[in-house]
Parts: sequence; C-alpha cells; structure tokens
Amino acid sequence: MSKKIIIKTPEQIEGIKASSILAAKTLETVAPFVKTGVTTKYLNDICNQFMRDNKAIPATLGYRGYPAETCISVNDVICHGIPGPYVLRDGDILNIDVTTILNGYYGDTSKMYTVGQVSEYAQKLIDVTKESLAIGIGQCKAGNRIGFIGNAIDKYISAFGYAVVYEFCGHGVGIKFHEEPEVGHCRTEDLGPEMVPGMTFTIEPMINAGKARAKVDKKDKWTARTIDGKLSAQFEHTICITTSSPLVLTDINNEFPIPASIFNHNI
Ligand code: MF3
Ligand code: CO
Ligand code: CO
Repeated sequence: MSKKIIIKTPEQIEGIKASSILAAKTLETVAPFVKTGVTTKYLNDICNQFMRDNKAIPATLGYRGYPAETCISVNDVICHGIPGPYVLRDGDILNIDVTTILNGYYGDTSKMYTVGQVSEYAQKLIDVTKESLAIGIGQCKAGNRIGFIGNAIDKYISAFGYAVVYEFCGHGVGIKFHEEPEVGHCRTEDLGPEMVPGMTFTIEPMINAGKARAKVDKKDKWTARTIDGKLSAQFEHTICITTSSPLVLTDINNEFPIPASIFNHNI
C-alpha cells in the first residue's frame, strides 16, 4: 500500500468545503440542547437528524465497526466516546465530534461544550486547548512541514503543565475519512511531509490536564480515557493549504483568525 497524500483539485476543495460547513453547522445546531439532564444519546440523535435532513451521511457510523453517528467524550474521556444513556450533570465538559459525508466529500470537526457551571480548572483546560488549535493552524502554510504543527502545540500547552495525547492524531481528510498524512500534535524531530497547496487535513489536539496516556475501554473497544481520571479537552478543524493563508473550512464563525504573519508568505 502506497502512502500517498491526495492533493485536491479546486472542484474537490469546493465539495470538502460544503461538507465541512455542514459538519460545523451540526455542532452549532446541537449547542442549545447541551444541558443538565440530557443524555449523550439525545445529543447524538439531534446531530444525526440534522445531518440526514441535509442529505449528509454521518461518517462514523459503521466506520471500523463504530456504532454511532457522532463521538461524544465527557470529562476524562479523551475521544471516541460512544453516545449512550449517560445523563449530563452540572460541571461536566464534553467534546462532540462530527464527520459528514456530503456528495462523497468528508468534513470533520469537533468542539467542547460545558454543562451549567464548570470549574475554573476545567474552563482553563478548554481555553488552552482551543488556543493550541489556533496555534497549530498558525503553522499551516505551503513550505512548512507537518511536524511544525505538533511542535508549536506541544510547546504552548506544556507551559500550563498539560500533556498532549500522542496515541491519536489528526489526518488527511476529504476524499476519504482518514487519509495521509498523519498530523501529530506532539513535539517531534520527524517533521514529516511538506505542506503544499491543495492538501486538506485535520488538526485535532487532545490535551490532558494530567498524564498523556490514554487507555481504551476493554468492553466497548472505543472509549479512550485518561489513565489518571483527569480531564481531557479537544477541538478539531478541517484545514486546506493554499498559496497564501490556510482555509479553515469548518470555522464558519471565524473564531480562528489566521495570524497576519502567514499572509506575508511567498511561495
Ligand atoms: N471523527 C474522529 C476524528 O476526528 C474519528 C472518529 S472514528 C470513529 O478523526 F470510528 F470513532 F468514529
Ligand atoms: Co478527525
Ligand atoms: Co473528528
């Protein structure tokens, strides 16, 4: 099997963009329903309905046997939480991760939500994780290496005493769910491939308040939790490399402004 990065045509990028926008709108749609007393299954079903109403297929359902239309990861769950009967409580933090297939194109995004009043400790972890994604995006220009992303993220979050999860990565996305390249979020000396215009990939840092390690649930084979029971947070966007500043295809509210330094780049 060749490990090939798919460079997308302008037409493909338009398709990936439409799917990305729909994935982001799904996260927006579910937001007002995230509150004390609802189950994660209920939130999953709202996302599923919205995707289906908009002629999209949820990419996670049946993917390597995954049993749901979204991933919902609460508190110490790092990622791949399976929506179910868990009832949200005041102070919970959660990530909802949505991947849409629209007209054959994939868009992948996730964000954090809070339930009622959360601790300052939890809010800080969320804020730093979100900023770490912005910092990763700030490395996204043609000519930079993929490894710059993880190096920037790790450096930033380490200063807060947090740890980057290394067992799960970002990934090329668009024509398939998980394409080359692998986009690590950790410090690395192996800088990997060079970014070129037309590359589309996710950045999705998972940041732990305590130790970096993840353990996967023995029974369901999916739910990945922190080994020390401490909190974990994650944000994810789908990015497209261009000849100038990157397009953050899933950032429909322009929450992740591109640093001015990137605009000055000449290829
Ligand atoms: N959406 C996740 C990602 O960001 C992948 C979930 S795979 C699943 O890559 F099988 F758990 F759904
Ligand atoms: Co992803
Ligand atoms: Co995702």
